[in-house]
Amino acid sequence: MTIRATVVAIQNLTASKSMHRYSVMATINVNGKVLELKDVPDSTPLLWVLRDHLGLTGTKYGCGVSECGACTVHVDGEAIQSCITEVGDIGEANVVTIEGLSEDGSHPVQKAWAEHNVPQCGYCQVGQMMTAAALLKENNDPSDEEIEEGMWNICRCGTYPRIREAVKAAAKEMKK
Ligand code: FES
Ligand code: FES
Repeated sequence: MTIRATVVAIQNLTASKSMHRYSVMATINVNGKVLELKDVPDSTPLLWVLRDHLGLTGTKYGCGVSECGACTVHVDGEAIQSCITEVGDIGEANVVTIEGLSEDGSHPVQKAWAEHNVPQCGYCQVGQMMTAAALLKENNDPSDEEIEEGMWNICRCGTYPRIREAVKAAAKEMKK
């Protein structure tokens, strides 16, 4: 299943669930730690749990409807959009945010982004890197077409050519 197809499947799953769920998530596994949540209803978007409850503000809000990719994080290794993912659907799955991709910016994707000066305003770039990291985990030698399809995140500054070059550089590094 492509990343985009996974996103659509999660969106459909979320849409089919009841609007009102009263149970609360007590803990969540983020970046390798089990963290306590206080009174967070299951229907709360994961994005707001990460940012407002856990202080992990690297993940950004863009559109809120799974159209831009700014809020992309990994759940059990898959890139998902945290703006449309209810925290109650996470259960015991492992969530990884940009803060957990590496402790010191040493993930090949982060290094390639820095080396290729990818960001302009920077707002979309965390989501771009999380999508790239998940893409390269599945395919460490993506073609231009596969990068085009996999890197669907929107960049309003138009950094797409540098993103493509950075993905290729990270792929090379990951194959070493
Ligand atoms: S904020 Fe989640 S996809 Fe745009
Ligand atoms: S770098 Fe500005 S929106 Fe992508």
